[in-house]
Amino acid sequence: EKGGYEHFMLKEIFEQPRSVKDCFRGRVNADEGHLVLGGLREYLDDIAKSQRIVIVACGTSWHAGLVAEYVFEELARIPVEVEYASEFRYRNPIIKEGDVVIAISQSGETMDTLAAIELAKSKGAIILGVCNAVGSSIPRTTHAGAYTHAGPEIGVASTKAFTAQVSVLTLMAIAVARRKGILHEDTFRRFLFELERIPEKIEKVLKNAEKIKEISALFSEARNFIYLGRGLNFPVALEGALKLKEISYIHAEGYPAAEMKHGPIALIDEDMPVVFIATRDQSYEKIVSNIQEVKARKGKVIAVVTEGDKLIPTMADHVIEIPITHEVLTPLLSVIPLQLLSYHIAVMRGCNVDQPRNLAKSVTVE
Ligand code: F6R
Repeated sequence: EKGGYEHFMLKEIFEQPRSVKDCFRGRVNADEGHLVLGGLREYLDDIAKSQRIVIVACGTSWHAGLVAEYVFEELARIPVEVEYASEFRYRNPIIKEGDVVIAISQSGETMDTLAAIELAKSKGAIILGVCNAVGSSIPRTTHAGAYTHAGPEIGVASTKAFTAQVSVLTLMAIAVARRKGILHEDTFRRFLFELERIPEKIEKVLKNAEKIKEISALFSEARNFIYLGRGLNFPVALEGALKLKEISYIHAEGYPAAEMKHGPIALIDEDMPVVFIATRDQSYEKIVSNIQEVKARKGKVIAVVTEGDKLIPTMADHVIEIPITHEVLTPLLSVIPLQLLSYHIAVMRGCNVDQPRNLAKSVTVE
């Protein structure tokens, strides 16, 4: 049932070209210029008219929410707040009638997320679900939603569910922007075209698996890791750090790269591996100077870069290339090397990657 892979986690990482394609099936058609999210059709106008979107989730799903914050604000120009479900539910959150709440959950059973939904519902919000497990509790309590269609995820560390969540949320943002009439037809067409290319580009990232394994071997004894990114790659840095800590038990922190100088830079020495997600985008020059700051303090730099980057390979100790795509879609590619890095490091340390200590696949208690 592991399809020839040593662990479910590795199988699920390698399934991503297919799971993302499944998520787009029947929804995206570049030739015909179609983008349809059947489950949301009735609510598209309400979302387009809303003044505010609140996203509630936990763990990796919360990281997908942070990516969605950037994408929704950039494309649909609706303010987004991303909340830990557990924090949201125990405040007296300000929710008004007509606010849109999006709950993201792989399992559809997370207790804190369910409770956050009930609270928001009682205050008159429109509740939308982005879930993977079909027929689970969350999709049964929401007003509408879109399934991620990643298929069952067995490994406790979430991988293919994350890329499917980001995929669905991106489709939602594009659909809302279009309904608001603020997405140029050419831009819309280009998105559809680029979305359809994502599965083959993930395939291409996966071709670097051997190289990532070799890099992993050099760092399997590390005691700490820092992950840095900016913009859309900041949530990817958080996700990379979470993946590493949960399955390898190495202490890891994710930060927005510019925050480094406000504290974490004090940690940098020759024993500190720093993973930069440094793709060619608006913040490229800025992140290049962050890499220089780390190198000046003798940190070991592993950089995820855009194919063909000439500059960063002259500075970083190790580079992993990913194909170019529309900037907004980058997290779908940049997270893949981080999943593989944590997987290989955990295996080399003899950890039980599919069932890490102290963790359960779905957290149905608070
Ligand atoms: C991380 C992980 C957890 C879950 C979190 C939310 O790899 O698996 O952080 O993401 O428990 O679970 P769902 O998405 O099922 O609500």
